[in-house]
Amino acid sequence: MPISPSDDSSNLKFLKSITPESSEAEVEHKIIVPLLQWLGYDSEDWRSQVSIGSSKLDFLIYPEEFKLHCPPFLVIEVKAPGKPINQNGWQINRYMRKVGAMLGLLTNGSSFQLLCRHQDRIVVIANYSVRELVENVKLFHHLLCKTTCLKVCNVILNNQQRINQKFLMRVAEAFGSQSIPALFEEQLELSPQPLQKQFNLVQRRSKSMIITVFNNKGGVGKTTLTINLAASLAQLGKRVLLIDIDAQANLSTGLGIDPLNDVELARKKDITHLLIDPRVKLEDVIYAKRWSRNDLQLDVIPSHIRLSRMENDLTQMVDSDRVLAKKLRNHDYDFVFIDPPPSFGKVNRISLMASNGILVPTQLSSYPIRALEYVLAQAQEIGAYKDDPLPILGVAISMYDQRSNSFNLSMLEKLKDILEKTAGGSQVNIFPEQTWIPRLNIVSQCPEKGYPIQEAEFDDHLSSQEREAAQKALERYDNLASHLVGSI
Ligand SMILES: Nc1ncnc2c1ncn2[C@@H]1O[C@H](COP(=O)(O)OP(=O)(O)O)[C@@H](O)[C@H]1O
Ligand SMILES: [Mg+2]
Repeated sequence: MPISPSDDSSNLKFLKSITPESSEAEVEHKIIVPLLQWLGYDSEDWRSQVSIGSSKLDFLIYPEEFKLHCPPFLVIEVKAPGKPINQNGWQINRYMRKVGAMLGLLTNGSSFQLLCRHQDRIVVIANYSVRELVENVKLFHHLLCKTTCLKVCNVILNNQQRINQKFLMRVAEAFGSQSIPALFEEQLELSPQPLQKQFNLVQRRSKSMIITVFNNKGGVGKTTLTINLAASLAQLGKRVLLIDIDAQANLSTGLGIDPLNDVELARKKDITHLLIDPRVKLEDVIYAKRWSRNDLQLDVIPSHIRLSRMENDLTQMVDSDRVLAKKLRNHDYDFVFIDPPPSFGKVNRISLMASNGILVPTQLSSYPIRALEYVLAQAQEIGAYKDDPLPILGVAISMYDQRSNSFNLSMLEKLKDILEKTAGGSQVNIFPEQTWIPRLNIVSQCPEKGYPIQEAEFDDHLSSQEREAAQKALERYDNLASHLVGSI
């Protein structure tokens, strides 16, 4: 007998159709399929077992008429009744982000977790047992039903059409009045290039940032933060280049690139060639690192231990401080991150001279915080030599201890005090708490494994607790990436 699409809980009898011994497939057929019918969806409105990279999400709810215009409405991830759902949050999180779904439902047939995408974050909005679901049946039905889905899609579609219309009107005006540069808010000489090309050029220029990640205190988590932040930005669709300019080559090895075997013996070039040889161009030294399961792509300029013996050679070069700046003049990246060594020397000057922003990672503890006075002084000194400004984009907190809240707060106060007292420090922002990176074992294991934290979910050797921790860290790196994008 067909189930009527009403929010009446008497139609929810199917929720009792499984036992703790039932399989995942039984939950899918006996609970999810009738649930979708109860919510008003036709069989054409959803697909099951949809491939996402090498894994498959269980249900994707995506009404046919809006497929071209709107993101999917709902992703459902199903577990067997014996499996606790709170250990599987990372998977639905990833699916929702990958497909851009607005809502998520994670269930094992007896527990139901509702999730919602808010900008780039996935937020848990409710956890229901079967009894609680029945008690909240109206709300549950109202949120997930096809009527709501169609309303939301219509709003998105209307907005989209309005934006398209406005854009086309402005293009028409611009062509009529020959004012294309004003349209893109940048002085651009009219050239015979097609509009598309000009547009890309302006877009890239206005967004592109070269950022030195800088702190002269070693071991504050600078390299780790750089790697994972870059990967989060890449997941947001940004083109990212990482430059390892530290002779220790931690960034290179942390991304699974062995400077000896993968670069030198493979007859490839590294940062030392780029700095020393005027004929070597940026593209000659880029190592394209790919993680296919995650569709993740980072371009890396690896380092080499011989960089530690090159201080003299570098100093003797013509206009030696600007050697990297010149090579980075025409690049095509949204973000370039430079990871210099902690001790302040020639390569730090070279990095800062090539940059148009500084990101300062610090731990919430005494010595790294005190080091900030020196960091700010160095930034100002180099900034004075540069034609363009060299702003400090913010202080990012790394490796904070989640268990000692009062200690963190007192360190935060101290950090604010130091910034307040230091020249130029009062304008420096401390990034908000949702971007702080906690100290987690799983984060420190990633360099050994040669991958960014984003890749941890595909590592079959990790326990479910480790995946949960990876998910937590990942959320913070994603927040940091969104915050950085929003603040520049
Ligand atoms: N969030 C974190 N949680 C736990 N360990 C971390 C975290 N960030 C970095 N580490 C570890 O701390 C050590 C120093 O980190 P690293 O990124 O190399 O710092 P730096 O570049 O400032 O010297 C490394 O062993 C790294 O694995
Ligand atoms: Mg480092």
